[in-house]
Amino acid sequence: MVTHSAFDLASPRVKRYDQLDMQCPALLIDPDPVANQANFAALVHMAFRWHWVGFYTVDGDELVLGPFQGPVACTRLSRGKGVCAAAWNRNEAVIVADVEAFPGHVACSPESRSELVLPVRNAEGEVAAVFDLDSASAGDFDAADAARLQSLLDAMSSRLLVGFENRD
Ligand code: SME
Repeated sequence: MVTHSAFDLASPRVKRYDQLDMQCPALLIDPDPVANQANFAALVHMAFRWHWVGFYTVDGDELVLGPFQGPVACTRLSRGKGVCAAAWNRNEAVIVADVEAFPGHVACSPESRSELVLPVRNAEGEVAAVFDLDSASAGDFDAADAARLQSLLDAMSSRLLVGFENRD
């Protein structure tokens, strides 16, 4: 198991995504998906130092806070309101360049300026959780960030979701 991960914060994002792709399969090996979510959030935070990164898990008609790195956050989010709920409803990544311009944005931290939320899909392709990233800089996320993180989440989803058999 990887216990030490150094990232060069001055290196291009693409290089840090490459490093995440290499390290995640070796790091996320516990049978407990919550433990794997915790280390996934920590690793992404170490790589990019965004203001807040973490999971919300689908719980009935709400999303409930899971493992994260960053300041304390809202524990429950309602379906139909906010960026996380939008990614859940649409089953696709949602990039918000300016959170104040997003109708219904849920402001857990006044320091968040831009946001990216990605679906974490179960074996049936349904959204079972979302991975939320908040930046203190406006316009900090683009389609390349969404594509790299979505591909990593899709590859790791069996290790990140409760009730999703580890197949590899
Ligand atoms: N901004 C999110 C809420 C979660 S926090 O950013 C951690 C939203 O609008 O759903």
